[in-house]
Amino acid sequence: MTTTSQSPYQSEYHAAVSSPQLFWQQQAAKLNWYKAPNGILQQTDDYHYQWFSDGVLNTAYLALDSHIEQGRGEQTALIYDSPVTNTKQQFTYRELRDDVARFAGVLKALGVGRGDRVVIYMPMIPQAAIAMLAVARLGAVHSVVFGGFSAHELALRIDDAQPKVVVSASCGIEISKLIAYKPLLDDALVKAQHKPDYCVIYQRPQLQAAMQSGRDLDWQQAMAKAESAPCVPVKATDPLYILYTSGTTGKPKGVVRDNGGHAVALNYSMQAVYNCKPGDVFWAASDVGWVVGHSYIVYGPLIAGCTSVLYEGKPVFTPDAGAFWRLCAEYKVNTLFAAPTAFRAIRKEDPQAQLQRYDLSALRAIFVAGERLDPATYQWVHEQLGKPVIDHWWQTETGWPIAANPAGLELMTAKPGSSTVPVPGFNVRILDDSGKVLRANEQGYIALKLPLPPGCLSTIWGNDERFVAGYLDTFPGYYASGDGGYIDEDGYLFVMGRTDDVINVAGHRLSTGEMEQIVANHPAVAECCVIGIHEPIKGQQPLALLLLKNGITVDETILEAELVAMVREEIGALACFKKAIVVKRLPKTRSGKILRKLLRQIADGASYTVPSTIDDPASVAEVAQYMAAKGLINQP
Ligand code: COA
Ligand code: AMP
Repeated sequence: MTTTSQSPYQSEYHAAVSSPQLFWQQQAAKLNWYKAPNGILQQTDDYHYQWFSDGVLNTAYLALDSHIEQGRGEQTALIYDSPVTNTKQQFTYRELRDDVARFAGVLKALGVGRGDRVVIYMPMIPQAAIAMLAVARLGAVHSVVFGGFSAHELALRIDDAQPKVVVSASCGIEISKLIAYKPLLDDALVKAQHKPDYCVIYQRPQLQAAMQSGRDLDWQQAMAKAESAPCVPVKATDPLYILYTSGTTGKPKGVVRDNGGHAVALNYSMQAVYNCKPGDVFWAASDVGWVVGHSYIVYGPLIAGCTSVLYEGKPVFTPDAGAFWRLCAEYKVNTLFAAPTAFRAIRKEDPQAQLQRYDLSALRAIFVAGERLDPATYQWVHEQLGKPVIDHWWQTETGWPIAANPAGLELMTAKPGSSTVPVPGFNVRILDDSGKVLRANEQGYIALKLPLPPGCLSTIWGNDERFVAGYLDTFPGYYASGDGGYIDEDGYLFVMGRTDDVINVAGHRLSTGEMEQIVANHPAVAECCVIGIHEPIKGQQPLALLLLKNGITVDETILEAELVAMVREEIGALACFKKAIVVKRLPKTRSGKILRKLLRQIADGASYTVPSTIDDPASVAEVAQYMAAKGLINQP
């Protein structure tokens, strides 16, 4: 029941929590379904819920064809800006739809149909978005793998997703170097058990990749011969994509997103969170390999009828720290979305942001996510731009923001360090170890009361047990987010960091458990522990603490270099694994558990209490000395 004393946000929030079926039925009605859903929310067992189960739609149709039918065919849908190749290109909705339909025809001719998987391993070029939308058009399931991952990580994902086809490109271009993608793909396909039927390769002018006859097809040649394929209607609950993310083990988990809930949630978020309307220009400076790229480079802006910017470049050095402002001015960007690390990088190169050259009058707000927005970065961006800077918190698993300053409902007063309030649909609670709900300002585990709103993960691909065990069993009736924090007396959420072994390096989520498995494979290492330590630009970086096998002496610099190479080979350059130190003892409990939290506190320069369960109290001061000697302790 809405009362007149409620703010727009409060009334919307309560509507979503108290009558979720009605609330989301109204949101679903804003989309152009083939068959609108009657069943809005169904609980299928203790853990699983389904949204819009009898609805029929096609996500690529909603993102493209539906707008053309409504007269937006000549509006720009996608702007590609690539300072690393000196290329700029724009696609109207009609042009993008035509390319997508034709590439869907290429895939269809290769046997891809509803439910089949297609892995996409591509740099930030329009063909990556075209491939995603083409897969969606066929009712198939894409799994995009970030270009910075190694052949090993790509092989793991290929084995898990079992794609019929892999789509890739000859190369990606980083700040000053060319990354040959095709040899990485070839290597991954040697390593993988599963072999796709075909690979479609986009040959970039910067590098011609060698092709394997019978398996590899040239994108341009295939497109020239292809017939356009129509949209395939799918059930709302059919999977749209699998996106792998890091968890607590070495094996990445494939987050599954359905079609119906995803489209409804993204469309709602574009209006309620980002305050965008059709025709607005939206730029998420991320990568299609991450959830931000899926939700807010490709699907969200297009479903909402906006113009989306796809940027192949970095915030700095391509060519300078004015790159973000240049794009905002040139394309009259209304909403910019980036990771805090990007602004820290810009601030380092250009502390007094040289903005005079750029007309930023179209820019309404800057959204940041991917890691905690530290108050210093918040202040800097806010002071330089004089526009609302909105921290918002979400995860690959949720696919859209859990907490934000809901600019489309009302812009609330920001509190530095807080991602503001729960977004309508998310019922956020802070729990203690036993699952008891904590009071205001008490810090604990951030959990989301079930059912989750539309758009969140429906399971882990091929491993529902992991979905239940990893997220739903810890606190019955809740989704455990893996983040810790508190809600203050005004209802503002403060996300303080992960409660598991996940770390965040330059907005990239990585598992220290996976790094430990790799480091432990070195013949000289008896035992190891990897933690995330402070890094001024990237937020965190991994640090390995090592115990050597008895009787082994090594040159520590050589050992470190070998470990760096191993992690780079197994995970990829994006892990930014560069530091490993040898210690004599690791602080452990008497039952043998390494005290990781304590190690993190030491490295953070935070105050800490040595737990009474410690086996060898002297090991703490000793490790602290080693870290201090290498300059690895943060001076907060
Ligand atoms: N393909 C291949 N390699 C990639 C890659 C890609 N798509 N992205 C990154 N890498 C490589 C880089 O070349 C670098 O390799 P190197 O160790 O050989 O130099 C390594 O991975 C680390 O890259 P990165 O973390 O990007 O560091 P950087 O020093 O090149 O740039 C920043 C630093 C802050 C500018 C950059 O991290 C950045 O723009 N971050 C924003 C991240 C972001 O948007 N995240 C999305 C979450 S919303
Ligand atoms: P990813 O799944 O890669 O998007 O990473 C999600 C994780 O990044 C979250 O669980 C948080 O730990 C962290 N994160 C993302 N956004 C924020 C934010 N605004 N504030 C604090 N942490 C964040």
